[in-house]
Amino acid sequence: MQNNTYDFGLVGLGVMGRNFILNVADNNYKAFGYDLDPDKVSSLIKEGGDISKVNASGDISTFVNALSLPRKIMLLVPAGKIVDAVIESLLPHLSANDIIIDGGNSFFTDTDRREAYLQSKGINFFGAGVSGGAEGARNGPSIMPGGSSKAYKEVQPIFEAVAAKFNGEPCVAYMGPKSAGNYVKMVHNGIEYGLMQLTAEFYDLLQKGGPLNNAELHEVYSEWNRGRLQSFLVEISAEIFEKEDPFGQGMLVDKILDKARQKGTGKWTSQNAMDIGIPIPTIDVSVSMREISALKQERMLAATRYDRGSINFPEKEKLITIAEKALYFAFILTYAQGMHQLKAASNEYGYELKLAGIAKIWRAGCIIRATLLEDIANAYEEDTGLTNLLLSPAFEEKIKNTAGAARELVTLAANNGIPMPGLFNSLSYFDAYTSARLPLNLIQAQRDYFGSHTYERTDREGIFHTDWS
Ligand code: 6PG
Repeated sequence: MQNNTYDFGLVGLGVMGRNFILNVADNNYKAFGYDLDPDKVSSLIKEGGDISKVNASGDISTFVNALSLPRKIMLLVPAGKIVDAVIESLLPHLSANDIIIDGGNSFFTDTDRREAYLQSKGINFFGAGVSGGAEGARNGPSIMPGGSSKAYKEVQPIFEAVAAKFNGEPCVAYMGPKSAGNYVKMVHNGIEYGLMQLTAEFYDLLQKGGPLNNAELHEVYSEWNRGRLQSFLVEISAEIFEKEDPFGQGMLVDKILDKARQKGTGKWTSQNAMDIGIPIPTIDVSVSMREISALKQERMLAATRYDRGSINFPEKEKLITIAEKALYFAFILTYAQGMHQLKAASNEYGYELKLAGIAKIWRAGCIIRATLLEDIANAYEEDTGLTNLLLSPAFEEKIKNTAGAARELVTLAANNGIPMPGLFNSLSYFDAYTSARLPLNLIQAQRDYFGSHTYERTDREGIFHTDWS
């Protein structure tokens, strides 16, 4: 093997890494993988078929020497300490101006730290969010790179070739400086949590309220996926409802334990939204619901103590019609909150994010891809200064047409004891965001009462304090 002949290096040949590197090779870039696990190395070589196009090694110097200069090395390893360990192991073998790309779900401040550290050693480093799971990595993910635009330019042709395409446009774009790529991917995942929670709670509602069986749920979600709710998550939900249990016990979805796990990106989205002072209650409650789901034993005990009473719903077709509108409403509200967070974070961290561009690269390849993103991209293209989707005339119309259904469904769910916090929070967020006056004047009065925290007035400038007692 001749040294310095491979265009692209990839560290971490797990499912994502293997699929990504095969995708690179399919696009006529010679790729070289590295993993400490010899089985992963040999299975990639076998699957690649031609070592002049895809090769791999468990030896780090063989790997690094195989790559052309400046080296482009992407890491697809679990976020956290492993990323630092891989960087340390690569460093002695690298040359000035080589480029390391972290393609994992790293926390954005870790990316900033690593970029500064590697810069001091003459090495380029940037984070690139990659969405789409194993299938996306193999056939076209959505990619969200940030960091040095000069370093990104070196990798751009490869990323544009491997990314998903929407109407021929690659679903990859330079997000902005520093950790912009990881930040955008984090918020993508927050929105993902929101949409997943919503699709799950509407399933609960239809199952109990219809009542709809799995075959009917498959029909309804498939139908929704042919309309304005078209999205990857609605599409796969429809497929899930018709999957039989491999153990022959009916349908698989009914056999899956109702405890949802999480790797942390949704929680980070909420935590950071609170840090920068942007409300994203639909996403917050989606994280909380995963936490409530994990309390299975406690829930089972509590369920024996509290009776819900009788269930009372409108007839099936009517319920499905209201649900379609309410889900559309809540989907919009979820994207609106995530986009609002991105807008604020862009100012806070100097990311220079282009929201229309972000919505565009989410239209294919990623987990939150949806027809709605086309409208979102248009709204931000028409008004680049738009702070919240709710203020866009096109969305005002959509919201006005569906808010009534959301209210109706919230009432139904509350009366029947069906937990739909994603929908409830979306509606409350909408009602609060569109209230010229909120009762938080009382909170200000209370704060001043017990702690002399002062308040402002509606009718004159200044800071006031009252001796309340
Ligand atoms: C994607 C996903 C992916 C994420 C999984 C699991 O865009 O491809 O967001 O990056 O890791 O969805 O996330 P949780 O384990 O937190 O549900």
